Amino acid sequence: MSKVPVQFTLNGSERAEFIDGGTTLLAMLRGKLGDVSAKGGCYQGTCGACSVIIDGELRLSCLTLAETCNGADIRTVAGLAEGGVLHPLQQAFADAFAAQCGFCTPGMIMAAKALLDRNPDPTREEVAEAISGNVCRCTGYEPIIQAVLNAARANSLNAA
Ligand code: FES
Ligand code: FES
Repeated sequence: MSKVPVQFTLNGSERAEFIDGGTTLLAMLRGKLGDVSAKGGCYQGTCGACSVIIDGELRLSCLTLAETCNGADIRTVAGLAEGGVLHPLQQAFADAFAAQCGFCTPGMIMAAKALLDRNPDPTREEVAEAISGNVCRCTGYEPIIQAVLNAARANSLNAA
């Protein structure tokens, strides 16, 4: 199979790879780049566990061909903590017990980040809508929604 060159940034670091044509971004992240933070649940676009942010937009990495990411800015949950300090969303999820098995958590947090990046003060309904593509089998969603609202509130207090 012919290899395809692709250049992009992953959590702020420039990367260049040769990949097999047809490789998904999820497979490249996990198999070639060692970033296993995005999870493979359904591999068909229905669970949200593989969610990442590409050029500011929430995307499903299991449905995104890696070769289409040339020049892209790719963000995964692995890049959110800075200097050993959790991102406010990560801290809020921990504080609200919004993760149980944790499998959905990276995708949930990236979906929440995409929301807060464009809408720093969402309503409860907007949070529920934003994570509606992400399946959690453990928490019943209430702690997750509360964690996102708490993170938004903490952000607004920090900005005040
Ligand atoms: S693994 Fe991508 S949506 Fe489920
Ligand atoms: S915490 Fe287990 S699937 Fe969400």
